[in-house]
Amino acid sequence: MSDPLVIFTPSGKRGRFPVGTPVLTAARQLGVDLDSVCGGRGICSRCQVTPAFGEFPKHGVSVAGDALSDWNAVEARYDEKRGLPAGRRLGCQATIQSDVVIDVPPESQVHRQVVRKAATERAIEMDPATHRYLVDVAEPDMHDPSGDLQRLETALGETWGIQGAEVPLPVLAKLQPALRKGNWQVTVTVHHPHDGPPRLLDVSPGFDERPLLGLAIDLGSTTIAGHLCNLRSGEVLASAGIMNPQIRFGEDLMSRVSYAMLNPGGDAEMTKAVRVALDQLAREIAAEAAVETGGIVESVIVCNPVMHHLVLGLDPVELGQAPFALATSDSLSLAAADLGLTSLHPQARTYLLPCIAGHVGADAAAVALSEEPGNQEALTLVIDVGTNAEILLGNRDRVLACSSPTGPAFEGAQISSGQRAAPGAIERIEIDPTTKEPRFRVIGCDLWSDDPGFAAATAVTGVTGICGSGIIEAVAEMRMAGLLDASGLIGSAEQTGTSRCEPEGRTHAYLVHDGTPDGGPRITVTQGDIRAIQLAKSALYAGARLLMDEMGVDSVDRIVLAGAFGAHISPKHAMVLGMIPDAPLAAVTSAGNAAGTGARIALLNRASRGRIEQVVRQITKVETAIEPRFQEHFVAANALPHATAPFPELRR
Ligand code: FES
Repeated sequence: MSDPLVIFTPSGKRGRFPVGTPVLTAARQLGVDLDSVCGGRGICSRCQVTPAFGEFPKHGVSVAGDALSDWNAVEARYDEKRGLPAGRRLGCQATIQSDVVIDVPPESQVHRQVVRKAATERAIEMDPATHRYLVDVAEPDMHDPSGDLQRLETALGETWGIQGAEVPLPVLAKLQPALRKGNWQVTVTVHHPHDGPPRLLDVSPGFDERPLLGLAIDLGSTTIAGHLCNLRSGEVLASAGIMNPQIRFGEDLMSRVSYAMLNPGGDAEMTKAVRVALDQLAREIAAEAAVETGGIVESVIVCNPVMHHLVLGLDPVELGQAPFALATSDSLSLAAADLGLTSLHPQARTYLLPCIAGHVGADAAAVALSEEPGNQEALTLVIDVGTNAEILLGNRDRVLACSSPTGPAFEGAQISSGQRAAPGAIERIEIDPTTKEPRFRVIGCDLWSDDPGFAAATAVTGVTGICGSGIIEAVAEMRMAGLLDASGLIGSAEQTGTSRCEPEGRTHAYLVHDGTPDGGPRITVTQGDIRAIQLAKSALYAGARLLMDEMGVDSVDRIVLAGAFGAHISPKHAMVLGMIPDAPLAAVTSAGNAAGTGARIALLNRASRGRIEQVVRQITKVETAIEPRFQEHFVAANALPHATAPFPELRR
């Protein structure tokens, strides 16, 4: 009689195994993705499976003592201590008795898919670089002179196949007490870089159940955003953002490079400021998630080239002048503590994605990792809107990239009533084309300003200013309502027919909110605000247009708007402004914070690091700073929506 047939779902992997073979053993032999930290000792419960067809043998009486139980003594003990869901078995304890179909639930798969936030986003396959392993180490023997570390290395090799790991001195210093306290059983935390030998990060006595955490950081010129992730489940435990304190040295990147050029030691000042902020962000996010920062064993940082150099402690002056040479364009794997992330685990590692070129950084690489324009049939334009916009254009044949200095206006800075996206900020606005009256919504309230109950609903936050998406909509709505001409000039009360267009110096401003009855500030859109938005949108459009010229096309198939507030930008208003090239509105989608998502992918999926390093070598970089056509496009794009491009989709 042949051995029982075992089929694993959802992988479909199958094979015949002798009666009595543990399910975990069968899974390993077939290459089934079934997790294990304790190596089959019935301690970690990561190997849970469900028999979908067929049964495993019953074992004695249940814990309740009244019936035959599916569980053996180890499983029953585990259930008593921590609980094991009904119908589940520990794969390391259940043995094959007859033909069986075994389901491996997502939480037992090492490489499970983590669903990204937006429905349109692809899932992230879990493949973290850092894992924990429970190891039984042989006790010392008078007749065997090998050290405790050598016996640990032998056990790691025999149990887990881990060879040649690097062992930092502080980890070695913890080994002997941990082995003795754990009665020769220890949990070892091992970092497996995608391109180098494994490295021991920690050793602790017995079975260490504390969560392994990672931090994905999008280090922008204006804001620094972080996502704290569970490295096993992929779950985002908390997200937070803080202002980049380097703003006091200059609003945009070039002014920070100038600061470094003009002030001896200025680069070191900025390095210190950003490193302090990174560690503060790590502490704030950990506090929000109610976890210890010491559990964070890895971080990934994506940023533009100037931030890249400054956080690394490299002088950015070469990035301020042609040929914009980077100190290094390769990815980097470093000790997190070397970048000021001192509250993380003392051996935590940090991975920085590669830079594409002197003005196109690791943040653009992260956008490429997240949006994968090089894997698309359709010619896709990805615009990551920020103080410095990253723009990618491509399909399977070719991908081009550039960056464009849009300035901070889209983030609410340099706008008279501008503010960061926070409760109380106007994020949506409509202006009636007949009455010229505005209605708006603020972050943190679902009501429109003319809905009954709006004042009560916003009593706590008030109406405090306009954020990036709000100012984009405000300018576009003003244009559609006839309050602005194509050159961006705000008309007078007589010209527009509304007293909301009030004089302001020698120009005019449009009153959005008069501050009553909430006692908050008067909120207007001034001529200066319009000019700031025109400059920012012209830079964005000119960058996109330059890539289209280089690609030899007049239109694209898809436009993806990304950025910290990219998801909140209305495609219609972006097109009315001429921020983006003309395209059917249905072809314009939002991707949220693509650079942040790219950082999260690199954090959770080790293989993606090798992948993006390869992709970056194939991206063609276009330099906006020295390209005369950029200036031409910039000037023509100053008009709303554009001086010469027809924008036929707007007429549909
Ligand atoms: Fe750890 Fe089964 S492998 S409980």
